Amino acid sequence: MSSHVTIQFPTARLRRLRQSPALRRLVSETQLNAHQLILPLFVRAGKKLRRPIAAMPDVFQLSPDEALKEATGAYQAGVPAVLLFGIPETKNSKASGAYAKNGIVQQAVRLLKRELPELIIITDVCLCEYMSHGHCGIVSEGIGGARILNDPTLKLLSLTAASHVEAGAHIVAPSDMMDGRVRAIREHLDQRGFVDTPIMSYAAKYASAFYGPFREAAESTPRFGDRRSYQMDPANALEALREVRLDIQEGADIVIVKPALAYLDILYRIKAEFGHPTAAYAVSGEYSMIKAAAKNGWIDERGVMLESHLAMRRAGADLVITYAAKAIATWLREARS
Ligand code: PBG
Repeated sequence: MSSHVTIQFPTARLRRLRQSPALRRLVSETQLNAHQLILPLFVRAGKKLRRPIAAMPDVFQLSPDEALKEATGAYQAGVPAVLLFGIPETKNSKASGAYAKNGIVQQAVRLLKRELPELIIITDVCLCEYMSHGHCGIVSEGIGGARILNDPTLKLLSLTAASHVEAGAHIVAPSDMMDGRVRAIREHLDQRGFVDTPIMSYAAKYASAFYGPFREAAESTPRFGDRRSYQMDPANALEALREVRLDIQEGADIVIVKPALAYLDILYRIKAEFGHPTAAYAVSGEYSMIKAAAKNGWIDERGVMLESHLAMRRAGADLVITYAAKAIATWLREARS
């Protein structure tokens, strides 16, 4: 049929047009923008401390003053938001460092808020970095081994979220995967008058080997067992839809899919099903793979970073949490000038 020909020509014409960057942008369906990126930062006690993380080149454990420098640099490059993780000086079985008024995250939030009032401060709400055993909830040692106690954990997560907001956090991001934690945190925040603080929930969080380098960065490797009793099985997609539905019903304002690149189908389905503000978390292992291959000269770092993050946007992510946020923002700016 001759209609074949008339369909093909316009497509080819548009493709040739894309050789000019401005014309390519004019007709592109998806854009990667600096203003949709969130930079995770690891904060620990000290002054002028920048401790490299071996498996994550260009990522550091930072003292609050250094975190401020890092956030300022990213902000100036066009990244509007940070996601804070804390590494406490001591850990215990109640994770008390997570909700201490003067805990490390709370201190960092106050400093960032004071010195960089335009920056959007998001805090990771979890207990694993603060627990002596490294699990995300309270552990009960019983017959048949250790168990995570879901409901008692909710109280500690709520205290943690409220203490972050009291310090000045704009958004809280619970990453623990306990059942009912979004509702518990929402009610606790509302009771304290923080009715306008959004919850960005790690709604579809898989038990993933891609978190390996993070556990070194946050010093949160479980001492025993693994997180498979509370994080999701990579084999399951419908389960992710159920988790997201529950989190939205409980009051999640933004839902996160994590990891990102190996779970683009999940991202796509969640966005299509719920149309809710959705974030992709390009996790530590994804970052490390690209950095390692690039260091060997096997792939082009800039090209692969930009392409993979664009793919997350194309799959449905409104926001992207990524360790490469500042680099991406800088590359995007260069490409435009
Ligand atoms: C804490 C938490 C983890 C990540 C974010 N929050 C680790 C985990 O669940 O083991 C992973 C982030 C990354 O790998 O970059 N619960």
